Amino acid sequence: MKQKILFVCLGNICRSPAAHGVMESIVAREGLQDQITIDSAGTYGGHAGDLPDSRMCSAASRRGYNLTHRARRITEEDFYRFDMIVVMDDMNYENVSRLAPERKYINKMYRFAEFCRNHPQWSYVPDPYYEGREGFELVLDLLEDGCEGILEKIAK
Ligand code: 4NP
Repeated sequence: MKQKILFVCLGNICRSPAAHGVMESIVAREGLQDQITIDSAGTYGGHAGDLPDSRMCSAASRRGYNLTHRARRITEEDFYRFDMIVVMDDMNYENVSRLAPERKYINKMYRFAEFCRNHPQWSYVPDPYYEGREGFELVLDLLEDGCEGILEKIAK
């Protein structure tokens, strides 16, 4: 049941590093650190090396998550290294699928919202970058919901 999960958004400074932090915290809670490995990346490399956006760090910190990931751009290599590549929106899906080394690797891709049980109205995780504080809270609500759904899928 060993699983390597990569969360992907555009900049790797808001949604995917938060998903990374939320999932790591669930994995620690369940004592599954030896079974589940988490990482995150962005399709755009402009923020490579940066810590997550300070607004996301504050919102996550209020819920008990400490985000320390340094942004990086996804590469084709990631399709070999990870079992699940979980993207936040359709644009991410499109950009990541273009990096797949072969067609069969697309089977590793998932849309994050498909794991959300309590937010049926959302088919994607909206980009909070140009939003206010509520945008970041909504993202965290979706991420907490979907990360529990991912755990459930893996445990099955
Ligand atoms: P993320 O948010 O994809 O959730 O990390 C964004 C971060 C940066 C930019 C856009 C979205 N940007 O345009 O620089």
